[in-house]
Order: sequence, then structure tokens, then C-alpha cells
Amino acid sequence: MAFELPPLPYARDALAPHISADTLGFHHGKHHRGYLTKLNALTEGPAYAGAPLEEVIVKAWADKDVAVFNNAAQAWNHAFYWRSMSPEGGGAPKGDFAKAVDRDFGSHDELKQKLVAAAAGQFGSGWAWLVLRNGKLEVRKTTNAETPLTETGVTPLLTLDVWEHAYYLDYQNRRADYIATFLDHLVNWEFANANLATA
Ligand SMILES: [Fe+2]
Repeated sequence: MAFELPPLPYARDALAPHISADTLGFHHGKHHRGYLTKLNALTEGPAYAGAPLEEVIVKAWADKDVAVFNNAAQAWNHAFYWRSMSPEGGGAPKGDFAKAVDRDFGSHDELKQKLVAAAAGQFGSGWAWLVLRNGKLEVRKTTNAETPLTETGVTPLLTLDVWEHAYYLDYQNRRADYIATFLDHLVNWEFANANLATA
């Protein structure tokens, strides 16, 4: 059974002017689709038959099956990234999630600063994450396709793609502007809240 490209959770132009329809078109329609096409070719054999994407990621990581891991993790990370943004994003966390932010970071501002530092400080391609680890919120960064899904006791709540393909058409080399725009206008705290509630 082939893995399918999940549709964007909003229209291709819904995040403009912050992220253009052109960027989403390439990022979702070419990059994300490309990972799934390669993953499907790599997992045709019996080793991964019928396994859900999360299981493929964990098994490929444990077995050091690098090509499968990279494409499976990128497929999962991108689906999670689309949902980490919303046309109605930005603003302040609410409800239980806001309480958890205050408890573990002191303030919403401190959480934002930690996300900025992780996203800006990731050398080369990778991801910044908000995760729940052993009941506590933490900010992480990962390199290339790496994902917190491979760590036991860690639940991803939100992610930010800092591969150049995520922002280069709109921001060129200005990764800091893309990160600030993500946090001010796009970040979907409701998604983090929902992930926290089911963690
Ligand atoms: Fe990406």
C-alpha cells in the first residue's frame, strides 16, 4: 500500500503574503511529494509491508536504513509542519497549553525566544520543534530529516521547517525574517494545544 501525499490543510494561497502560493506549491507539490514518491519506491519489499509511517520511521532509524528513514521522516515532518501553521495563526497560546507554557518557560515570550534560537541556530537544513518530554514542554532542533518521533518519551507538539526550500523564494537568505513571520502570523498554537491534550 503506497503512502499518499496528504492535502494541505488550507488553500495554497491562504498563508500569503507571509508564505506565498509559489513557495507552498513547490514545497508541498514538489518537495513533500518527492519524499513520498521515493519512500514508496524504497518500501515496495516485505520489510515495511503495511507498516504505518510512524513505524517505518522508528524501524528505519533503529536499523540505520538511511534512505528509508530520510524520506519517511521528511514525509511525516512536512505533514506535521503544514498543520503547525494556520491562516489565523500567531497571537498568544490559550487554555491548558498557555498554562503549560507559563509553567515550563515562564512566559509566551520566553517560548518564542527559545524557538527563534533553535530555528536560527540550526546550522544548515533541519527543523525546530516544540515537544513534550516526560510531561514537560521543551524546544529542540534537529538536523536534516531527523525527528523527535525516534525518541521514547517525547511527543512532538509543533514544528518549523528551516530547510532553505521552506523560505528561499519569499525571504532569500533572511531566515530570521521567516522565523519571526512564522511566530507572529502563522504559528498554530491550537494544533500544539490539541497535541498536548492527546499526548
Ligand atoms: Fe521542507
